[in-house]
Amino acid sequence: MGSSKRDFLSLYDLSAEELRQLVNRAIELKGLRAQGEIVQPLLGKTLAMIFEKASTRTRVSFEVGMFELGGHAVNLAGAGSQLGRGEPIEDTARVLSEYCSVIMIRTFAQARLETLAEHASVPVINGLTDSFHPCQLIADLQTVFECRGQIDSLEYAWIGDGNNMAHSWIRAAALLGLSLLLACPKGYRPDTAIVAEARARMAKSGRGNLLITDDPKEAVAKADVISTDVWASMGQEGEQAAREAAFAGYCVDIALLKEAADDAHVLHCLPAHRGEEISAEVLEGSQSVVWQQAGNRLHAQKALLEFVVGPKHESSRPT
Ligand code: CP
Ligand code: NVA
Repeated sequence: MGSSKRDFLSLYDLSAEELRQLVNRAIELKGLRAQGEIVQPLLGKTLAMIFEKASTRTRVSFEVGMFELGGHAVNLAGAGSQLGRGEPIEDTARVLSEYCSVIMIRTFAQARLETLAEHASVPVINGLTDSFHPCQLIADLQTVFECRGQIDSLEYAWIGDGNNMAHSWIRAAALLGLSLLLACPKGYRPDTAIVAEARARMAKSGRGNLLITDDPKEAVAKADVISTDVWASMGQEGEQAAREAAFAGYCVDIALLKEAADDAHVLHCLPAHRGEEISAEVLEGSQSVVWQQAGNRLHAQKALLEFVVGPKHESSRPT
């Protein structure tokens, strides 16, 4: 259905050029907002937001972003809607497409997101699944560009779990041809199929490098940008104790940061668990750009919403 609609289920739904354009547009929208300019290409458009997991940043940045672009957002918590009582996602997709111009969902399985997208006649955005968090990467790359003046010729390190954020960094690296070194404990490495696919893309384009180690010091040694995330993601709370044991030595703390360049920047998508994957000193320290990164979710979301439902896509959507 709706083959010309612009779903955003993972970063691979964008070309490298489109991803770069989104980052540029996010920076532009941020500047216009700072000057008090009102930019409202989405007047009369409505976003449906489905949350089957908790959220602060994604929820608020999408809702505020939609408002600032002249549109409206409807929040549909999984538990408070008929989805929570078992109404099929296929039926929800068709019904929401009757009312709304775009649907964003945060859920568990990537397959559930894909089923929603298949049955919706409007664009569907991945607001986080167990597999990917692509919206976060637009803001992260924006933050890198703001801090470093470029994205491409940098060394990127990932410390911790091979989770949805790690997978998103892997896809960003494959798409843009970046150099990424991940340090993950054995048993918590990223999905092998996602890694193999990314390496195949890099081999084909002749750009990018993807390495995995179990030594956090090796990963940060040459890094310009160091990213981490919680050890137990949403849905894995029951594994917290086992994961704390498995990830011992993977805290981005002052000692680990000393192994990196003095001008390395530290990213974290938040929420952070101080004393686990990142120390309070690093999170609040001069090399951390996490608050700027969180703020950029608003501008990145606006750029993405404009891209998938803005005027240039008007004619390609069903009436
Ligand atoms: N980083 C992020 O997606 O935050 P929330 O879980 O608060 O939306
Ligand atoms: N990996 C984390 C990211 C939260 C934004 C999770 O899925 O819970």
